[in-house]
Order: sequence, then C-alpha cells, then structure tokens
Amino acid sequence: MNGTRTGLLSWIDERFPLTKLWNEHLAQYYAPKNFNFWYFFGSLALVVLIVQFLSGIWLAMYYKPDAQFAFSSVEYIMRDVEWGWLIRYLHSTGASAFFVVVYLHMFRGILYGSYKSPRELLWLVGVVIYVVLMAEAFMGYLLPWGQMSYWGAQVIISLFGAIPGIGEALTTWIRGDYVVSDATLNRFFALHVVALPIALLGLIVVHIMALHEVGSNNPDGVEIKKNKDENGIPRDGIPFHPYYSVKDIMGVAVFLFLFSFVVFFVPEMGGWFLEHDNFVPADPLTTPEHIKPLWYFTPYYAILRAIPDKLTGVLAMGLAIVVFFFLPWIDRHPVKSVRYRSPLFKLLLALFAVTFVFLGYLGTQPAYPVLSELGLRFSELYFGFFVLLWAYSRDRSAGVFWTTLLVVLAVIGVIDWIRFDPSKSTLMMVSLLIPVVYFVGFLVLPMLTRLNESRPVPERLTAK
Ligand code: HEM
Repeated sequence: MNGTRTGLLSWIDERFPLTKLWNEHLAQYYAPKNFNFWYFFGSLALVVLIVQFLSGIWLAMYYKPDAQFAFSSVEYIMRDVEWGWLIRYLHSTGASAFFVVVYLHMFRGILYGSYKSPRELLWLVGVVIYVVLMAEAFMGYLLPWGQMSYWGAQVIISLFGAIPGIGEALTTWIRGDYVVSDATLNRFFALHVVALPIALLGLIVVHIMALHEVGSNNPDGVEIKKNKDENGIPRDGIPFHPYYSVKDIMGVAVFLFLFSFVVFFVPEMGGWFLEHDNFVPADPLTTPEHIKPLWYFTPYYAILRAIPDKLTGVLAMGLAIVVFFFLPWIDRHPVKSVRYRSPLFKLLLALFAVTFVFLGYLGTQPAYPVLSELGLRFSELYFGFFVLLWAYSRDRSAGVFWTTLLVVLAVIGVIDWIRFDPSKSTLMMVSLLIPVVYFVGFLVLPMLTRLNESRPVPERLTAK
C-alpha cells in the first residue's frame, strides 16, 4: 500500500510539483512558535469561504434571478426544496460569519503591526479582499428581492448620484435602469455568483503567496527569518504542518460549533443576520419605515449619515474605508506589536475598537437627534485614530503635538460652525466634550508624561 502510494506520488511529482508545494507551504513552511488566539482567523476565513462557495452553488440551482420570481424562489428553497432551509441558512449565516472573522483578522493585523514592512503588499491585498467582500455581500443581499434588499440597494446606489457631473449617469449605468429593477437584479446576480467569487479566490491565492514570501508576523512582532540556524531554519519557527495544521483544526471545530448553533437555533439572529423587513417582497411603491444595511456595513453607514451634506458624507464614508490602504505609511513606528508599544497607544487602539463597534450600533438605529450627534462625534474619533497613529508613529517634538492639536480642534470647530443649529446648541456643546477630551488627552499627555514610551522589543520570541 505504502509502495503504491509512493509510486503514485512520484508519478504525480514528475508531472506536477505536488510534494514541492506541500513542503513549501505546509511541511517546511516555518511559522513563529508563539501564534495565539488571534491567528485562528485567517484559516477560519478560508473555512467560511468554502461554506459560502458550496452553499452558494446549491442555492443557485434553485434560485431564479428574475424580479417576478426571485422572492418566491427563495421561499420555495426554504419550504419545498429538501434541506433547502439548511442551505439558505448556511449561506446567510456564512455572510455574517465572514465579516466577524475578517474584522477580527484585520484587528489582529493592527494589534501586531502586521501591515508594516515587509508585509505592506500582503496588507494591501487584504484591504482589496475586504472591499471585494463588501461588494459581494452588497450584491448578494439584493437577490432575495425583499423590501430591505430593494430599498437598501436603492439608497446605496443613489449615493453615487452625489458625484458632481457624472453622478446621475453613473447610477443609471449601475442599475441598468432608472430605478432598481429586473435589470439590476440580473447583473448583480452575475457579479455575485461569477465575477466577484473568481476575483475573491484569485486575491486570496495572491494573499497567501505574499504571506509565504515574507513569512508570518507574530504577537511579539519579532522577525523570525532574521535568526536562522546553520541549516537555514528559523530558530524561533516550527513547521506549519503538523503543529499549526492541528491547532487550526481545533479552532475550526470550535468555530463550527458556534456557527452551527446560529444556523440551527437562531438563524435570523434577532434580525441582525436576516432582517425582518426582508421577509416582505420588494415593493417599489412602499418605502420601509427605517432603511438600514446589515450590521457589517453600519459603522460606515453611521459616518455617512452623520454628515448632513450628501457629497461630503459619501466622501467621508469612502475615506473611512480607503484609509486602511494607507495604514502602512501612516504608522511608521519601528515597534510592531502592541505588546511593546506605549500605554497610550494601547488605550488608543482599544478606543478605536469601541468607536467602530459603537458606530456600528448607531448605524442600525433611526436618526434621532442625540444619536445623529453622537454619530458625528464618534466619526471624528474614528478619523482621529488615524491622525493620532501618525502623530505617535515616531518621536515627535512638542511643537508637532501642539500643531496637530490646534489643527484638529480647528477642523472640528469649522465643522461645528458650518452645521450650527441654534435649536441644538446645547447638544452640540455637550457632545463637543467627547472629541476635545479625546484629542487633548492623546496629544498633551505624551508631552507631560512618559505614557507614550514603548518598551524594548526582544530579539528572540519571548513565548516559550
Ligand atoms: C477572505 C478573506 C481572507 C482570507 C481567506 C485570509 C487568509 C489569510 C490567512 C490564511 C493568513 C495566514 C494565517 C493568519 O495569519 O491568520 C492571513 C494572514 C494575513 N492576512 Fe489575511 N485573509 C483574508 C482577509 C484579509 C484582510 C481583509 C486583511 C487586511 C485588510 C488581511 C491581512 C492579513 C495580514 C496582514 C496577514 C499576516 C498576519 C501576520 O502574519 O501577523 N487579510 N490571511
């Protein structure tokens, strides 16, 4: 048996580099020995990708991309197709799980400075994947042709109308009609089912090739390739297979438990994964009371809504996403991992996570005045994070900190002056305290205290 296996393997190896690929990417791919919890999410993203591909293929066997039949074909899948409900819930839960996993994966990158040299390109490809994933989710959401599918698409596509000059023509071109219609459904189906999945797959291959070229970062931010033994093997590395392949299987098992729990017991997740309004067929003549996107877009939606001027809102929302591309050049601090960075940096990062989640919550809520005001203030903190990241990225003189503080406060002042509304003056004044305390704290404390000093990074991995 063993002989047959070796024979078959050498037959294949003479024709295709199977063993070579196995060794390069698994058995002889040396990964740092101190991977922790945060390092599960890359492989989990791959698992979710497979779940989405398989469930998607089966859904496409019964789904009808036609405005007249789309909604009822989904109901048919849910009620009449054998195991159809399971396939659909796997796919709808998978969409949300994808974003949970990818957001945690991105946050790990920021925690450990994995976007810094030599991993800038790996990070950039990651951000492109993220953008394509958002497009994929957005187009998929139109397909059930429910009320929220229809009106969500209507609102988001109409945002392109804010672009001066070409806006109107562009929205018509995207929709293929003057309103969201059967033509829109057809093209979104083609993009969701064929074009974007292929793009995603290609990008993920490039992502992993880039990763294996430079090697993984780790929770200490130590470059293991800089310390090799006489055989050229990193002293702080262990072969990915079997060590991390086995560890990842455990992560996958835990993930599948949680995933299955949602699929079988709470597939709608109280309206967070499948919105209640989307169980009503699309009606172009009735606007739902409260149009909102699914939770993974709501941080950006909150930024969009926080700004009264449509074009500025659209630009701010775009910038909130595009800024991730520039992260490797905004943060040039020599210390990669949060472990060795200053206490102020740790607090800054924690507050960024809170800001992102809170904006996400605000984006799901109706635009009450207090919530809209908070939306604007937390949008200021969102962008403020990147400004402070830049300010913290090297030893700066007091002059730089003071100038940054003055510029930031002036920008906030101008925004408040433009949007000033006497009926909301108290609310505006009170909420102004949020960015003022934030920026004064983060820009004055480094000058007065030693709270912005990072710790020395060890040369070798500290985890045993
Ligand atoms: C479908 C989506 C994605 C898949 C399947 C994927 C897959 C992977 C895998 C398997 C790894 C190696 C294991 C690990 O470090 O966890 C990895 C590493 C990495 N990914 Fe992704 N990824 C995806 C999206 C993203 C996104 C959106 C970003 C950033 C915007 C990103 C940035 C990175 C970085 C910086 C690393 C190296 C981390 C380190 O070594 O510390 N990835 N990715």
